[in-house]
Amino acid sequence: MDDAHKKPQGVPVKRAAALLWRAVQPDVATVRVGLFWLVLAAGLDALGPVMGKAFIDRYLLPHNPQVGAMLGLLAGALIAGCTASLLRYHQLCRLASVAMQSVRRIRESVYGHVLRLPMSFFDSAITGQLVSRVTNDTEAVKQLYVQVLFVMLDSLIMLTTLLVTMTFLDWRLMLIVAALVPAVFGIVFLYQRLSAPAVGRTRELRSTLNAQTAESIAGMAVLQATGAAATYGKRYASVNEAHYASRQVELRANAWLLRPALDLLNVAMLAVVIAVFGMRESGGQLSAVEVGVLYAFVSYIGRVVEPLIQLTMQFSQLQQAVVAAARVNTLLDEAEAPRPQAKGRVMAGAVTLQNLNFAYKNGVPVLRDVNLDVKPGEFLGIVGPTGSGKTSLLSLLLRFYPIAENSGQLLVDGQPIAELDEAAFRDAVGLVPQEPFLLAASVRENIAMGRDLSEAQIHTAAESAGAAGFIGRLENGYDTPLGEGGARLAVGEKQLLAIARALAGQPKILLLDEATSHIDTGTEQVVQQALAKLHGKLTIISIAHRLSTIRDADRILVLSHGHVAELGPHDALMQIEGGLYRRLVELQQLASET
Ligand SMILES: Nc1ncnc2c1ncn2[C@@H]1O[C@H](COP(=O)(O)OP(=O)(O)OP(=O)(O)O)[C@@H](O)[C@H]1O
Ligand SMILES: [Mg+2]
Repeated sequence: MDDAHKKPQGVPVKRAAALLWRAVQPDVATVRVGLFWLVLAAGLDALGPVMGKAFIDRYLLPHNPQVGAMLGLLAGALIAGCTASLLRYHQLCRLASVAMQSVRRIRESVYGHVLRLPMSFFDSAITGQLVSRVTNDTEAVKQLYVQVLFVMLDSLIMLTTLLVTMTFLDWRLMLIVAALVPAVFGIVFLYQRLSAPAVGRTRELRSTLNAQTAESIAGMAVLQATGAAATYGKRYASVNEAHYASRQVELRANAWLLRPALDLLNVAMLAVVIAVFGMRESGGQLSAVEVGVLYAFVSYIGRVVEPLIQLTMQFSQLQQAVVAAARVNTLLDEAEAPRPQAKGRVMAGAVTLQNLNFAYKNGVPVLRDVNLDVKPGEFLGIVGPTGSGKTSLLSLLLRFYPIAENSGQLLVDGQPIAELDEAAFRDAVGLVPQEPFLLAASVRENIAMGRDLSEAQIHTAAESAGAAGFIGRLENGYDTPLGEGGARLAVGEKQLLAIARALAGQPKILLLDEATSHIDTGTEQVVQQALAKLHGKLTIISIAHRLSTIRDADRILVLSHGHVAELGPHDALMQIEGGLYRRLVELQQLASET
């Protein structure tokens, strides 16, 4: 259901670790310093019970009240405790900032990476899931950092220091306490076995919920108009129900295995240690010295159990975070579209197709053996029934899909299209897509699209596209915000704006996909005049359903089932008895007359 087409390869933990390691690289030095101080803090913490033991053994039990020395010990314990707390506070702040920085880096690189993915990736990508990957999953990665860097490291350091100190006090007792560690890991292992599938499933279902919500909002008009609200509500409810059930499984495992099981271990360990002492006494060995050790051990057990509990309590979140991090890493491993920095430039704007074949999926050809030679400055119209491959042809001209080996050639100014420099290529090719896409920004920003364009260039582009008229009528002209997706504009106005955007970069090749399909006849004439003015100055390749818009084209390419059915100027094509183009024109005339 989720990412079915690209399951994460390898163990999630490894992939998550790889991601964290990469992101933390720039801060390794800071982390090292933080670790050093944390070790020191743990050492100071471990001193407390040792001093307590000395207090008991030297002064309390032997009834040996040396006030000065006793005060010294107390003060020492106090200072050690305070210093440890201070050190820990500062190091945790330091590591927290490392964690935030790393997550900032990860999020930036994930978003940047998504922007550079090939168009073919988005054919099967689900918007909600991608959004959730960039925002939620990276947020979960932050959890991972916080857990790994603070709680886990701190707890591990504490644990090691305590065990070492205990070894010096009484190594046999230390071995008993150390038995806690495998016991706790046993519990955690069991927990993981029980809850890991549920954790993964919960995340997957949540991601599906996100995707469904996003999809429904995007298609609200269709949803309401078709009365599908109830069906969608039910579909959502069933996924939500599954999510709830999966959460329940997770929570039950948490509730059983984490805190209660560990608290029980703590009590059991205390009982064992005290029992061992009891046995030693019955053997007549218990001396004043041993009582101090008992005190130290009892207080150490509390301290050993605490970091262990911390380690395991974090485990459920840790697991979710690992899954999230692995998913982020999988996304980052997705190959980016090639962006060659090469010598190839678009000079004149000639486009040549030689025996070009193309398929999205193997075995389902979309373009078959297309041959075409578009001269610089030529205006080529493309027509053909729906699904005949018109948009696909433009996608190839835009380098959205690679041309497979032995599938013919696509040359721009005599150079294979794949060998053109990315920046130069994008500057030279302008696109007016089938669906005009506008940003929630001002008119100016929508035309400039982040390119470094002068005010004059923007105005000229708007004039040439015939968009200046309606822009002038907006209350703030070029500064008018357009709302999400340009919601406040009519579809035709959006299209004019999209044309202005394409022209603003002063392209050598202009590609239009049904650019006039939503415009009324009056506005269409404006666009046609605009195109007529550009005619000869740049190469224009324009797909049209409304055939009147390309009547003036130098040549018209008629596509049918992916191959070239006819090619020539309007008049010549109209001469072909029973020709496809002629039939299309006659059909449209008939339609407009009735
Ligand atoms: N991303 C894609 N993945 C797989 N198949 C696709 C993809 N895009 C288009 N197709 C298929 O390729 C064929 C040609 O589609 P294309 O969009 O090029 O047609 P078109 O001529 O532009 O049609 P229309 O006039 O309706 O816009 C269709 O059969 C379509 O289903
Ligand atoms: Mg199309």
